[in-house]
Amino acid sequence: MKEIDLTRLPQHIAIIMDGNGRWAERHAMGRVLGHRKGANAVQAAVKTCRRIGIRYLTLYAFSMENWLRPKAEVRALLRLLQEYIENETQEMIDKDIRLVAIGNLESLGEPIYAKLKETIERTAQNQGMVLNLALSYGGRDEIVAAARRMCNDGLAGKITPEEVTKDLFAGYLYTTGLPDPDLLIRTGGEYRISNFLLWQMAYTEFYFTEILWPDFRERHLLKAIADYQQRERRFGMTSEQLKA
Ligand code: FPP
Repeated sequence: MKEIDLTRLPQHIAIIMDGNGRWAERHAMGRVLGHRKGANAVQAAVKTCRRIGIRYLTLYAFSMENWLRPKAEVRALLRLLQEYIENETQEMIDKDIRLVAIGNLESLGEPIYAKLKETIERTAQNQGMVLNLALSYGGRDEIVAAARRMCNDGLAGKITPEEVTKDLFAGYLYTTGLPDPDLLIRTGGEYRISNFLLWQMAYTEFYFTEILWPDFRERHLLKAIADYQQRERRFGMTSEQLKA
């Protein structure tokens, strides 16, 4: 088991859970079964993060681009998400986990949207960890939606152009109230961020692994955290400035 320093954990971990389809192919199964195994890996990641004391975990569960997949796969993914929310609500309550979600949530359709809202409300007071699901989410779409809302506030006379700052703009994003991710993990051996948290990841540390998401378990997560802990985060400054 990888040694990690529990006093220097990343506050917020974001994960691009990639490789379900390839996992299924390698095991001679249909893609949907790969996603089902992926949902088991989600349970494991949530459990580990809660146990070791991660404060925020954001999972890229369904991207804007995922709508373009074959209809049957989209339906299966949405069903899995709904099942996950239904089956895990009690666990979230028991483990003091607060569920939140970012993305164009209404586009998910009524049964899943209603279920999601219900669990978000039921867990709203929980303090142990925030589990944030990115659903029907796209980073550029989020920025455009924020700009649109901000323009509307401008036209309504609520803000002036001079008042527009990075902090003000960030307040219009879906992630308002959440800290930026400290660590991004992407499984499945691809080296890109696929329209995920474009604004929020300006200073995030990236960790890429070949492990396919359904195989991702506690030891892989701890390895990613250990790797993160060996890095020096300078936020554009020099090492000397950081030591001063
Ligand atoms: C990428 O694998 C993964 C997704 C498109 C969706 C992620 C969904 C899950 C992990 C399951 C359900 C989620 C929750 C929160 C219960 P891919 O299909 O792109 O894999 P490939 O690149 O190997 O084809």
